[in-house]
Amino acid sequence: MEILPTFSSDRETLYSELTQQVKSLTEAEPDWLPNLANTAALVAYALDRISWCGFYLVRGQELVLGPFWGKPACIRIPFGRGVCGSAFSQASPLLVPDVSQFPGHIACDPESQSEVVLPVIQNGRRLGVLDLDSPDLHRFTSEDVRGLAAVVDALVRTCDLSGAVGGSFIA
Ligand code: SME
Repeated sequence: MEILPTFSSDRETLYSELTQQVKSLTEAEPDWLPNLANTAALVAYALDRISWCGFYLVRGQELVLGPFWGKPACIRIPFGRGVCGSAFSQASPLLVPDVSQFPGHIACDPESQSEVVLPVIQNGRRLGVLDLDSPDLHRFTSEDVRGLAAVVDALVRTCDLSGAVGGSFIA
């Protein structure tokens, strides 16, 4: 394992470095499990003011907790529920500057104040979401959404995630 780099303070540069690191970390490993685990850990390492970072993956008609960094979290989230289930169902990112203003937000950690969730889609199949929480209000911006989308894009291009999900696929 290489020594982790120091990421730039400029956010655009940081996300480009992070995307490159995710590629390097995952391209040599065929197994989705360590690849998702290392991606969650790396994203949490690179970003400041994060309290949780991880994946929820499709199992049947719900999302189930996958590899993550942070405190233990809710295990099952039905499609369409909470920030994660909503981002998954609409197949687009959700930026929530203040979770208390999001109807149906699922509070795994009462300290979480803001959240961003991106769908993970590979070959047209919705496989799950990447979820990040922060203890600060308004922590995430559209720049984070763009940067994290690039990270997820690198992950789905580099790593076969089809084994990560169970039950029927949602197109
Ligand atoms: N807050 C999320 C639940 C997952 S935790 O944040 C880890 C939601 O509303 O879907």
